[in-house]
Amino acid sequence: MSFTVALPQLEPRERYKLLCATIVPRPIALVTSAGRDGVVNAAPFSFFNVFSEDPPLIVLGLQHKPDKAPKDTTRNIAETGAFVVNLVDEDLAKAMNVCAVDFPPGMSEIEAAGLEILPGVDVQVPRIAQAPFALECRREVALAFGAHRELLVGEVLRLHARDGLIDPERLRVDTDAYHPVGRLFGDGYARQRDRFELKREKYEEWASKPRWPRSSRDRGSGDIEAALARNGDRLRRQVRISLANQATTRTSPAAAARSENAFGREGLHGLGSQRGRGDARRLIALPRLHYPDRWPTIDGLCNPLAGDRRCAVA
Ligand SMILES: Cc1cc2nc3c(=O)[nH]c(=O)nc-3n(C[C@H](O)[C@H](O)[C@H](O)COP(=O)(O)O)c2cc1C
Repeated sequence: MSFTVALPQLEPRERYKLLCATIVPRPIALVTSAGRDGVVNAAPFSFFNVFSEDPPLIVLGLQHKPDKAPKDTTRNIAETGAFVVNLVDEDLAKAMNVCAVDFPPGMSEIEAAGLEILPGVDVQVPRIAQAPFALECRREVALAFGAHRELLVGEVLRLHARDGLIDPERLRVDTDAYHPVGRLFGDGYARQRDRFELKREKYEEWASKPRWPRSSRDRGSGDIEAALARNGDRLRRQVRISLANQATTRTSPAAAARSENAFGREGLHGLGSQRGRGDARRLIALPRLHYPDRWPTIDGLCNPLAGDRRCAVA
């Protein structure tokens, strides 16, 4: 059964719980700032993201303390208009957590966390030497939402990267060398090592592909069996025609390679079939299959790439 709830009817604490547990993982900004007295402060913020590149803006959600007083970070930025966002990777995660301790006034988080600082170039605020990336920022605008929180928009003036993380020629981040951590809910954090790619398609590319499954009922595991149960006869007939065509077509090595792509590791969307010289290439929709482990074995479906002799018998 699904769940739905109107947020205005919840207590703020419950809204926090739901929003922070569902909007995950959030990047972490370990913000360094300095008050007029020059004392350097560091604190983590996960209500943080990039907002735009022209102008280059980031946003931070700064809540006040439980006693309603602004946090040191909020106060420092209000006083000086400058701060540095130090990004947090796996090596920096423990020190970042120390920076969130509610230390008594006058005690430095930087020292307690064993961090080193380096001077800023465009702002009078130091950055953390151990950070993989540091963004020197200038306050653009701070919007108050009620008396106890503000949305801070900062312009990024300069980016620093630790050695080996950016190719300076192509401005490419080495995603194998950069291991950021994201905040989940409560004390939970996530590594970001399990990545995958999805190629973004133009509409023409998307529209030109035959699609299977055709209905949402066909999605999910067991799709093939479900689809075959409903459409088995039609599919078997299509495949027989297709395979007969393949068997009677002299296939060049290039065509074989193309065919191999169609049956590729990512699954099968269509089976290329040439009906003979001069005829148009025809695509036949088939269930999404994973080659070779999920190749269907029912009568009539076979693996022409593996030289299965049944393929010639249509
Ligand atoms: C991972 C993490 C993320 C946090 N994100 C936020 C946040 O987005 N906004 C906020 O107001 N406090 C956030 N906090 C709490 C502050 O870091 C904490 O109140 C800190 O002591 C403030 O330090 P300051 O008074 O030196 O600025 C977060 C704490 C942790 C550990």
